[in-house]
Amino acid sequence: MFVARQKRVKSNPAGLSPCFRDRSQAHHRVVENLLQRVISSLEASDTREGKDRWNTFESSLRAHMEIEERVISTFAHVHHQDARALLREHYDIRTRVAEIEALLKLNMCRPRIVRDLLDSVRAHAAHEDRMLYPWMEENLSDADKALIIDQLPPEGTS
Ligand SMILES: [Fe+2]
Ligand SMILES: [Fe+2]
Repeated sequence: MFVARQKRVKSNPAGLSPCFRDRSQAHHRVVENLLQRVISSLEASDTREGKDRWNTFESSLRAHMEIEERVISTFAHVHHQDARALLREHYDIRTRVAEIEALLKLNMCRPRIVRDLLDSVRAHAAHEDRMLYPWMEENLSDADKALIIDQLPPEGTS
């Protein structure tokens, strides 16, 4: 669990704080782009490539959500209802991911189903960009922010 700092601490001279929000939000776009690549493969009827791309997307999304859930457990102390809503969205996304995985194994996954997931992932990301990430920027210590940045898969490889 991350610890919210008690007092606002000025950003460090290295400028970690502004960089932090940009980098965290950018990872949403990385995850969305990975899912868009799955859709492109399925639209081209390239199931093998679609599965490979799906595996990359799934591991990136899982890492992203696991990190966030550790933050949300702290966020929940002060914003209980918002935290519940975000965790509910994570649950719904995981449920859809499991359904799509089952369909991919059966070679029965249609692009439309993955597009629906992309819509959900985008809506959830917008929700977090608006609500959770500003709170993280304001309340997490620079050490915790650095840890989160370190754990996000680098762009281009995730
Ligand atoms: Fe999330
Ligand atoms: Fe997120």
